[in-house]
Amino acid sequence: MAIERTLSILKPDATRRNLTGAINQRLEAAGLAIVAQRRLRLTRSMAEGFYAVHRERPFFGSLCEFMTSGPVVVQVLEGEGAVAHYREVMGATNPAEAADGTIRKDFAESIEANSTHGSDSVENAAIEIAYFFSEVDIVG
Ligand code: CMP
Repeated sequence: MAIERTLSILKPDATRRNLTGAINQRLEAAGLAIVAQRRLRLTRSMAEGFYAVHRERPFFGSLCEFMTSGPVVVQVLEGEGAVAHYREVMGATNPAEAADGTIRKDFAESIEANSTHGSDSVENAAIEIAYFFSEVDIVG
């Protein structure tokens, strides 16, 4: 399998509960290298732009409100098949459906406050990484 990069976001529910280190430990233990990382507070327009694909969904407004409610940590993760692998490590979007031992099962509060975001394809990963990082920020 190829070495891939994926975009990860540790969401405001995670930073509020000081879970950055605990989640990062899970990532590194799973073989996902954190090759770029930045903590910031998203503006409303940054959140709306990032989640533009969901703008017709009923939860879009609430999602953008939540994503701007506190700091986030944006990261680039690198590893073998990193896109699919990170989605396995995170677990299902809805923590009620997430498998035992996954980040969302253990940490998420709800389907919205679900602690982490990960890209859903290699193509979207490239777009999402470029939303937050330039190539010089990423050190493998
Ligand atoms: P994420 O992987 O960041 O992608 C879109 C986000 O929308 C998702 O995680 C959830 O946090 C949020 N969301 C809120 N409600 C829903 C829902 N009903 N279905 C899917 N995603 C939802």
